[in-house]
Amino acid sequence: MYRSRLFIISILLILFFIPGFLSAQELKGIQLVKPQMDSGRLLMHVLKDRKSSREFSNRKLPIRVLSNLLWSACGVNRPDSGKLTAPSAKNWQEVDVYVATEKGLYLYNAQKHRLDPVLAQDIRALTGSQSYVKDAPVNLIYVADYTQMGTAANDVKDLYSAVDTGFIGQNVYLYCASEGLATVTRGTIDRVALGQAMHLRPEQRIILAQSVGYPKK
Ligand SMILES: Cc1cc2nc3c(=O)[nH]c(=O)nc-3n(C[C@H](O)[C@H](O)[C@H](O)COP(=O)(O)O)c2cc1C
Repeated sequence: MYRSRLFIISILLILFFIPGFLSAQELKGIQLVKPQMDSGRLLMHVLKDRKSSREFSNRKLPIRVLSNLLWSACGVNRPDSGKLTAPSAKNWQEVDVYVATEKGLYLYNAQKHRLDPVLAQDIRALTGSQSYVKDAPVNLIYVADYTQMGTAANDVKDLYSAVDTGFIGQNVYLYCASEGLATVTRGTIDRVALGQAMHLRPEQRIILAQSVGYPKK
């Protein structure tokens, strides 16, 4: 009796934990190419063109563009200190950028400028409630990890992680405006469903998502 119960519990544990583990194993990480520092248009022109767009072609982003996009978002711009293109309260760097593509879900590792594999599953449609979301080749998901924010009170963590996400999102907007890419940041998300699909821990909070791609002609 005891043995059979133990057997059933073991099977349930395996079924619960293994899928995420296996999925990450099946997806390979991607070493991003060095960001190009000699690209981009005049800042004032870029600001003039910054806007939200909600129609995406299904053309994929080349690795060079993805590399520049993520570095602009929150890549390391001062290697001596490991600080980023986006400011963060107390330099907590608590906002993780997950990258949902057709191939699967990755986590941007800013310090190594690399995409670490998370899930070999296309979860783009789950990153927002609007129909255009699934069409974008890349959906960024901004997730705050509250364990990176010391002993601050929860309302402070809520406020600072939202503000820090805004800086990252604006960097993405500006890079997209400079490169002629379409983008829109989004708060309309089923956070419970997406959090489950991403296997997030309870201390991780989905703040916003942002779709990026080429505009539909
Ligand atoms: C915090 C935040 C949440 C947003 N959520 C959504 C959203 O869920 N869906 C959407 O289509 N646009 C969303 N937007 C984009 C706004 O609708 C857009 O910025 C606004 O209409 C102004 O347009 P513009 O960005 O072209 O200036 C959001 C913007 C912000 C800043």
